[in-house]
Amino acid sequence: METMRWEDNKLVLIDQTKIPQEISYVTCRTYQDVAEAIKKMVVRGAPAIGAAAGFGMALAARRFDGNDLEQFREFLACAAEELKLTRPTAVNLFWALDRVKRVIDSCSDFRKLPEEILNEAWAILQEDIEINKMIGKFGSKLVPQNARILTHCNAGALATGGYGTALGIVRTAHKEGKEIQVYADETRPLLQGARLTAFELMEDGIPVTLITDNMAGYAMKKGLIDLIIVGADRVTACGDVANKIGTYGVAVLAKAHGIPFYVAAPVSTFDLSLSSGDEIPIEERDAQEVREIYGYPTAPAGVPVINPAFDVTPHQLITAIITEKGIIHSPNEANVHLSLS
Ligand code: MRU
Repeated sequence: METMRWEDNKLVLIDQTKIPQEISYVTCRTYQDVAEAIKKMVVRGAPAIGAAAGFGMALAARRFDGNDLEQFREFLACAAEELKLTRPTAVNLFWALDRVKRVIDSCSDFRKLPEEILNEAWAILQEDIEINKMIGKFGSKLVPQNARILTHCNAGALATGGYGTALGIVRTAHKEGKEIQVYADETRPLLQGARLTAFELMEDGIPVTLITDNMAGYAMKKGLIDLIIVGADRVTACGDVANKIGTYGVAVLAKAHGIPFYVAAPVSTFDLSLSSGDEIPIEERDAQEVREIYGYPTAPAGVPVINPAFDVTPHQLITAIITEKGIIHSPNEANVHLSLS
């Protein structure tokens, strides 16, 4: 399944707001189109947002019609600022835009700049797939034969360049012949677990059972879950992890039941400038997402709600973080530093 492709100088995104009812695509012709697609979650998931923003910069570069390098750089800086304003939590967005900025700063010929930015966007996308496969290999070592794995939200092919982080581990374990079974939290309010994770795994023929978010404790208590694997949107220097709202609750439940809680994250998801999870900006989304499902009201109109899109799981609740560099057991500042340096 292709999350995004570059076609005829446009970025084509699979529309993740429509899956599974329909498989349709959104074509981005401008960087503003990409910004809109990120905001509306046509494309979502930390690594996928980063890659899309890279292509957004490639689209911006194609719009400049001057011939002054400094003006070109200023024009691109404005585009990057607009892309940065889309979603605040996943650090991969800022990481990818920084990568593109380094290309812009080091290029001395404005005629070559559009091609160089496009090449960088491609590199971000393709490297991500390779990184996910490495995460899959390391992570699969933690998955026993016949494991029953709970996951939250979607950290799969759709959330990345392809293959997935948490679901990359699941895919690798499945390929290795382990008879695994996945339990997918539906993940209210936007149902990424029900709509995307269940869809992806069924497409690949990997056994998946859907549960509502409030069944996770029941499933753990009944002995139905052997381990948990989730993705991440931002990991701090001490190993605190921001991920989809509800992840923290799953981690607390896992601790209470003595079940290992693993996080799969590429190095690009680490923000070593932050010392603790309290510093991670948490996106607050439109209240209507909580009051309704697919535009159908599920609560009285106007009832006050909060809608944080992410929460932070403190590192003390995390058994290990799996990156493309290896496994960080019992993450804390020293272990994270050792593993990433
Ligand atoms: O709001 P979303 O759907 O972008 O949130 C996605 C998640 O929380 C994922 O778990 C995370 O980005 C990791 S994706 C490999």
